[in-house]
This record gives sequence, structure tokens and C-alpha cells, in this order.
Amino acid sequence: MPKIETQTPTDKDKLDLLVEFGWRVSHETNLDALLELTAKQITHILGVKRCFIFIKDENAGELWSKTASGKGLKYTEIHLPLLGPSIIARVCKDGHTINLPDAYADERFSKDIDLVTGFKTNSLLAVPLKNKENITIGVLQVSNKTDATPFSKKDEGLLKLMANLAAGKIEIAKLYDEVKLSNLETIYRLAVTAEYRDQEDTRRHIENIGQVSYLIAKGLKLEEARAETIRHASTLHDIGKIAIPDSILLKPGKLTAEEFDVMKKHTVYGGKILEDAKSSLLKLAYRTSLFHHEKFDGTGYPQGLKGEEIPLEARIVAIADVFDALCMKRCYKEPWNIQKACQFIISQSGLAFDPRVVQAFKKNFQKIKALYETDAKK
Ligand code: C2E
Ligand code: SIN
Ligand code: SIN
Ligand code: FE
Ligand code: FE
Repeated sequence: MPKIETQTPTDKDKLDLLVEFGWRVSHETNLDALLELTAKQITHILGVKRCFIFIKDENAGELWSKTASGKGLKYTEIHLPLLGPSIIARVCKDGHTINLPDAYADERFSKDIDLVTGFKTNSLLAVPLKNKENITIGVLQVSNKTDATPFSKKDEGLLKLMANLAAGKIEIAKLYDEVKLSNLETIYRLAVTAEYRDQEDTRRHIENIGQVSYLIAKGLKLEEARAETIRHASTLHDIGKIAIPDSILLKPGKLTAEEFDVMKKHTVYGGKILEDAKSSLLKLAYRTSLFHHEKFDGTGYPQGLKGEEIPLEARIVAIADVFDALCMKRCYKEPWNIQKACQFIISQSGLAFDPRVVQAFKKNFQKIKALYETDAKK
């Protein structure tokens, strides 16, 4: 494979680089990573100072760009109105290439982006990103060649070629991203529904449970994808509280034994709500909501499972849940200080909690602590 170098490649190198570009683009499924990769490669292969990839969002009526390779511009987000006067919007609308040898001399060019970024555009080349149906899904825009010459016909051809190689992949990654996002949004809203009656700050509570569970999973060296799934699934652990009456859930004082028996059923209700789920995320949410009050020594509920009979994810969420409950104000208790809550978790190693999971909690405790300390300042 040819090495990526800072020098502008020769024509022969360019061919090799294009082959590599096509290969790499076809193997990246994450939208952000794909956009970054595409912009980086284009910047190098064409020998330009800057590359923007704008994606059309018809619902929002705009074109957005997150990737911007080039000095000082990493991850700037730019939004342009689809119906606006920009060159980008024009290329998107007409589907034609625009090549400006001297941008500031052209009345179609707007300096708005330059004013925000502090980058001075000299020459500019913009081509549409078209999918298989020839529908424009976005715009590739490069500016300022490193050798300070205007863009040639050959540059246009090269950029169009790369636009063709990337467009289909970008479209699929974008669709996939949207499905994923709408799924997570739904899950998040479900979690809010479950928690908002007995939590002072539902959003923060849900994010903390997710993040602490994630950090424990990482401390156990679980794979990133699995840790991410645990983050999202854990937010639903108390979904069964939906079925607990206010008189019990919101009781300011201590619960009677009978009331606590009703309260305990939130695990079973959670299991009922999520049983027979088909997606791996909700299957996991099923196990964590049903088993997050099981204890390692077998004294928990609802089934009194012991040790490794309890799914690992439920052993993780058990710690995240108790730690969070201790640190937060509840209608029945005042918040504990973080250090005391940590000591409590450690004291329950081998009793309520799996010692291995407690170790993972300790390993990442600084990060967990930082999370709650930031909260306290908000
Ligand atoms: P939750 O508020 O989310 O608390 C989760 C778990 O954190 C509790 O599970 C318990 O293991 C731990 N925890 C919370 N506060 C304390 C505390 O002050 N000291 C200690 N040592 N541990 C604490 P648990 O006990 O199975 O309770 C399950 C749920 O039942 C709680 O969820 C809460 O919604 C409710 N609950 C428990 N006790 C009371 C109570 O005295 N009054 C009311 N109104 N609700 C309660
Ligand atoms: C424009 O589309 O008018 C501005 C493009 C740019 O600044 O890169
Ligand atoms: C989610 O995105 O699943 C909820 C919020 C979070 O975990 O940060
Ligand atoms: Fe619970
Ligand atoms: Fe809880």
C-alpha cells in the first residue's frame, strides 16, 4: 500500500492512492469516520489546503459538514441553508461543478465561512455527491491547492471520480446512522418515562447510569461495541417502576415490608415489558432490568440468583445503580458523599457485588468521581 505523505503525489502515485481510497471507503461503515477518511484522502490526493464534505438534510432544509481537514479546522460544524445563495447550495441544487480560480473575484462566492474560520479561500472547486439514482446527496468542496495554482480539468475529473467512489457509501452510512439514532432516541425517551417520577434530574441520572455502566464494562476490558450496548441498555434498568403506584414509589419515608414487596416487583415488571425482545440491545435491557437487584451472594431479588448465574451485565448495572442511588437525593434519602458511596460499594464486594466487577469500578473510579463532581457544580 502506498504511504500517505505530505507531498503532493505524482500521477502514478495518484492511481495507487485512488485504488486504496476506493478500498478504504468501501470498508468503513461509521458515518463520521467515513467522512473524515474521505476528506483526509481527498486533501492528500488532490493536494489541497482544505476539504469540506457537505451532506444534504432535506428535513432540516440545510447542508451540514462536520469534517474539515486542514489546519485549525478539525470538527468544526457548519450549517448552510439548502435554499441559500452559497456556492455549495448552488452545486447541490443544480448538480453542476463549480470551479473558481479566484473566489473573491466571483460575486457568487460568500465570505461567511472564511470569516468564521479565518481561512482565506483563493481557488475553489465544488462537485456534487450523487447516488446511484443520480440524486445529489451532498457536495464535495476543496480549496487552495498546495502549489497555489487554480484547479484544472484534471482536478475536476479526479474530484468527481472520488465523489462517485464515496457517494454510495456515504448514503448508506447516513441511513444506518439515522436508524441507529432514532432507536437510541426512542430508548432514551423510554428511560426518561420510567425515571421521571422519582428522579430530580432525570436526564443526568440516566446519563450517569449509562456512563458508569460503560466505564465499569471498559474496566473489565469488554469490547467497545459491547460496552456501548451496556451503556444504552442500562438506562432502562428501572423501566418496571412505571407499574409501581405513586403512593409507594414517591413515599417520602421508609417503606413498610409490604410496600417493599410491591416495590421489588419493578424488576419483574421490567422483565415483562422487555421479554421476547428481538434486538440485542433490548435483549440486554431485558436481562439488566430483570436482574439488576440480584446479589452476588444469592440474597437479592427477584429470583435469588447467585454468582455467575447473574448475567454479567446485570452485575455491572447493579453497581452503577446503587452507586448512583447513593450519590443522588431521593424522596426517601439525602445524597451521600462520593467517597462514602465508593466505600460502600467496596464493602459489598463478594456480598451484593461481584468482586471482579468491584475491581473494575475501582479501576475507573477517578473517571466516575469526575462525572459526579462535574454534576455537583452544575
Ligand atoms: P433506587 O432508589 O434506584 O435504589 C437502588 C438501590 O440503591 C437500592 O435497591 C439499594 O440497594 C441502594 N440504596 C439506595 N439508597 C440506599 C441507602 O440509603 N442505603 C443503602 N445501603 N443502599 C441504598 P433496593 O433497596 O432494592 O430498592 C429498590 C428501589 O426501591 C429503590 O430504587 C427505590 O425506588 C425504592 N426504595 C427502596 N427503599 C425505599 C424507601 O425507604 N422509601 C422509598 N420511597 N422507596 C424506597
Ligand atoms: C460558499 O459556498 O459561498 C462559500 C464556500 C466556502 O467558503 O468554502
Ligand atoms: C442513550 O443515548 O441511550 C441515553 C443517553 C446516554 O446513554 O447518554
Ligand atoms: Fe431498580
Ligand atoms: Fe435504580
